[in-house]
Amino acid sequence: MADLRTRYLGLELPSPLVASSSPLTGTLEGLGRLEAAGAGAVVLPSLFEEDLAEEAREVDALLATGATGAEARAGHPEQAGYGAGPAAYLSLVERAKARLSIPVIASLNGISRGGWVRNAARLEQAGADALELNVYYVSSSPAQSGSEVEWRYLDIVGAVRQAAGIPLAVKLSPYFSSVTNMAGQLVEAGVDGLVLFNRFYQPDLDVETLQVVPSLELSTSAELRLPVRWIAILYRRLGVSLAASTGVHTAEDVLKVLLAGADVATMTSALLRNGPDHLSHVEALLRDWLDRHGHESVDRVRGRLSQRSVPDPAAFERANYLKVLASRSPR
Ligand SMILES: Cc1cc2nc3c(=O)[nH]c(=O)nc-3n(C[C@H](O)[C@H](O)[C@H](O)COP(=O)(O)O)c2cc1C
Repeated sequence: MADLRTRYLGLELPSPLVASSSPLTGTLEGLGRLEAAGAGAVVLPSLFEEDLAEEAREVDALLATGATGAEARAGHPEQAGYGAGPAAYLSLVERAKARLSIPVIASLNGISRGGWVRNAARLEQAGADALELNVYYVSSSPAQSGSEVEWRYLDIVGAVRQAAGIPLAVKLSPYFSSVTNMAGQLVEAGVDGLVLFNRFYQPDLDVETLQVVPSLELSTSAELRLPVRWIAILYRRLGVSLAASTGVHTAEDVLKVLLAGADVATMTSALLRNGPDHLSHVEALLRDWLDRHGHESVDRVRGRLSQRSVPDPAAFERANYLKVLASRSPR
């Protein structure tokens, strides 16, 4: 049977299939189901910068009632993340570590270097095996330059790096002018891995009510080509782990990101749509492909179609552009 063991962020994973941040990873029950279905690691939903306000409210409540920390924590909802507050989050990290044998990666989500960053140290103390940092920042000011936005990322990474010693991955936006340069700067700032890419949610407009409405559409496999291209380009250039995020739904998708050079393939939409057991289905098909092609491990296929391995490296850049456009001309 093919060996699926994978190294990611210096951690040993039994499989390259990782459940990325979502409500599914926010409960102990969901985490247990994901591990049973074959997840190689889990990334918890994010603890948000905005959760600090929640924490301040908790402290006020504690002062008012005189409740102990344990009592206050016991009152927290089963679901962590999405505004449930730091106490519920830390409790989930502790309980997940006690129950699961796969690595538990905590996630921080914020856009400034404020006091919230100290949560990195608390997550490390709670037992998180690694941290994923998601800087979900949308710059709408014409006065703010691209380098200022980059500096914001680097500033937060520096602060989190100082606060905690566990491996750190950054979930990157695909919208940098130079993804490779930004990736290099993040590595210099001390990250151990890059998650390519964060998926921004675009608000929609309701033409009847004339309102801006939040819309959360799950991804499809059609979105996979963005991470495939950049993983293929970055493979073995920076000496850090690479995780694919956005558009991984099927075993074929997993194979594509592995062939491009990803260490792990992370999934959210596919698991929300099909349930945690989807992982075991994907794993069976992945094993089947490896057997049929005579590969005894996932390590043997990783990076085989990366930019440095293919006969035509320019295929990942501008080459073929004209050919592809011309192929759509009416005959
Ligand atoms: C309902 C939902 C909740 C999510 N919550 C988080 C989160 O808390 N933190 C985070 O970094 N990403 C979050 N994401 C983004 C996913 O982790 C993932 O990066 C994104 O959905 C793209 O992957 P996919 O194509 O497999 O869905 C969320 C996505 C969805 C659909």
